Amino acid sequence: MRRPFMAGNWKMNKTPDEAAALAKALRRELADAGDVTVAICPPYVSIAAVRGELSGSDIALGAQDVHWEPSGAYTGAVSAGMLAGAGCKYVIVGHSERRQHFGETDETVSRRLKAALGAGLKPIMCLGETLEEREKGVTEDVVGRQFSLGTDGVGAADFAKVTMAYEPVWAIGTGRTATPAQAQEVHAFLRGLIGEKYGRKIADGIIIQYGGSVKPENVKDIMAQEDVDGALVGGASLQADVFAKIVKF
Ligand code: PGA
Repeated sequence: MRRPFMAGNWKMNKTPDEAAALAKALRRELADAGDVTVAICPPYVSIAAVRGELSGSDIALGAQDVHWEPSGAYTGAVSAGMLAGAGCKYVIVGHSERRQHFGETDETVSRRLKAALGAGLKPIMCLGETLEEREKGVTEDVVGRQFSLGTDGVGAADFAKVTMAYEPVWAIGTGRTATPAQAQEVHAFLRGLIGEKYGRKIADGIIIQYGGSVKPENVKDIMAQEDVDGALVGGASLQADVFAKIVKF
């Protein structure tokens, strides 16, 4: 039995003060969340403020991206060691918005993944097809390529610490969710790929989140799918009561 994992990706929202207020409200709302792993990923500058509010709670802290080098002349970048030192347990890697707007490639995803694992962080590795790719019928090719190149050079013991997030690009921030059956289809396909590469036992234990317009109204049906183990939530994670409803699906 895989323990459900709900993560909030705040994207480029919330100043440190706003982030602290949201984390505080969330902590109150989730005092009785039950048997669910919960993490929130604020922007870098708000990590310290959120850490203060979450201290001693069960809500884990994560970041939205990480650079692959440990230190050096990489203006604007943040390393895995820095994130670990700032109290992060998780880090999102390969989000489609990073791929779309910031030149992220499967190769850089793999470098970031390895750097995160090397620093003891638990990566949430995102993949998913665009609308054009879905309509062309190449969803499995795309997801397969993103998985295989993104995990290039990652050994089984390390991969066991990774959370996967299937996020069809056409469902992110659009209000258009994949149907539970569409999500299940890709999740099952992905779990099969994980099994081929890392063995059945690891594949059975890996958490695969669904992401893309998850809301309190649709979370239950999505979570009812056999291979859907959690959600990566953007917009709906920015209000404490709404995200709490998702966590308590
Ligand atoms: P959304 O974003 O819930 O706003 O669609 C999900 C994500 O990008 O992680």
